[in-house]
Amino acid sequence: MGVAVTPATTLDAQKLRADFPVFDELVNGKPFAYLDSASSTQKPRQVLDAMREFYEHSYANVHRGVYALAERATAGYEGAREKVRAFVNAPSNREIVFTRSATEALNLVAYAWGLDNLGPGDVVVITELEHHSNFVPWQFIAKRTGATFAHIPIDDFGELQLDALDDIEKLGNVKVVANNLVSNSLGTINPVEKLAAWAHEHGAIMVVDAAQAAPHRPIDVQALGCDFLAFSSHKLCGPSGSGALWGRRELLEAMSPFNLGGEMIRSVRLDATSWNELPYKFEAGTPAIAEAYGMGVAIDYITEVGLDAIAEHEHELTAYALDLLGEIPGMRLFGPPAERRAGIVSFEVEGVHPHDVAQILDWEGIAVRAGHHCTQPLMTRLGVAATTRASFYLYSLPEDVDRLVAGIRKVKDTFGV
Ligand SMILES: Cc1ncc(COP(=O)(O)O)c(C=O)c1O
Repeated sequence: MGVAVTPATTLDAQKLRADFPVFDELVNGKPFAYLDSASSTQKPRQVLDAMREFYEHSYANVHRGVYALAERATAGYEGAREKVRAFVNAPSNREIVFTRSATEALNLVAYAWGLDNLGPGDVVVITELEHHSNFVPWQFIAKRTGATFAHIPIDDFGELQLDALDDIEKLGNVKVVANNLVSNSLGTINPVEKLAAWAHEHGAIMVVDAAQAAPHRPIDVQALGCDFLAFSSHKLCGPSGSGALWGRRELLEAMSPFNLGGEMIRSVRLDATSWNELPYKFEAGTPAIAEAYGMGVAIDYITEVGLDAIAEHEHELTAYALDLLGEIPGMRLFGPPAERRAGIVSFEVEGVHPHDVAQILDWEGIAVRAGHHCTQPLMTRLGVAATTRASFYLYSLPEDVDRLVAGIRKVKDTFGV
């Protein structure tokens, strides 16, 4: 595909930036330091060009037409499914469901599996650092079904306190454990394999939110030992409006559909309807066709750069950022040490609201996120309403970190703290 560097164990972020048109532009008159990739990533020309070409030459609805264009569109769409399968090392294409996002994928599992499999006496286990996308659906479905909603607490480093599982198992029949592989607020890398083993010992399923993991490190659903895994395209250099759910075939086969309508049926009569085979049972209506195709191209792109190289690059930036930020007086850094976290750094500049920090950094051409990051229970645990978060990706540079540090010094000068 011709990314700006060849796959290797290290990557050259400066060269890769040539693939991203956004970095040709100045922001507020300054070179752009984009430190909000945990929220959404920038897009390389390879993805933009491929989607444009798809729309210009191969676009039609999928699975319906017998004409040439429809067949090309269907081949592109189904080709992307195979790319997703290989990307997460799933055993079969039939286990890959295209969704609009990680959020929709997690809702699909909570509704379609949860409503039929949970009831009073059952326990749904989530964690204190879950994103709302993997928290709220389970809280809602637990309430609807009468199941108990339990959480694994974190310690002061923002790491899961697995000792709490001994008490949680006493609450009833554990049926689901739902956890993110990487925390979007703290960067904590969570022990999903251990949780999956524990879940299975208890006859429960393991649902993995890989929204912050799949873009940044190799994913192998078979090695993780989980039952469902969800991620979004827009966080891995692909378009928004597409995402994927992997689910174990026997579980997907046994589940009722989530959305109902065209394409997800086998036959419809006045008295009854039967469902299509996997994965189409879960893909009602016209899907996000070019977006699924674009997700496949983005997967090619990051695979060619190398997921190990991306993880290593982000690790180096994270360690560098934690060192430099830690030297600034009045900084509170949240989360575990660099060796146990992904490329996310959340912090508080004492005496300054995170939104003010982000605003002043923006004037310097530095984009960070300020807020609760869709993790309000975690913010409550940390005793803050919000944090400022810098997050890295394959195009992030050590210079971005230097500018962040200089920007924070400017924030402190401005507020006299
Ligand atoms: C850990 C985590 N899970 C789920 C989501 C939801 O992803 P999306 O908004 O793409 O559905 C996010 C998005 O920030 C996330 O960080």
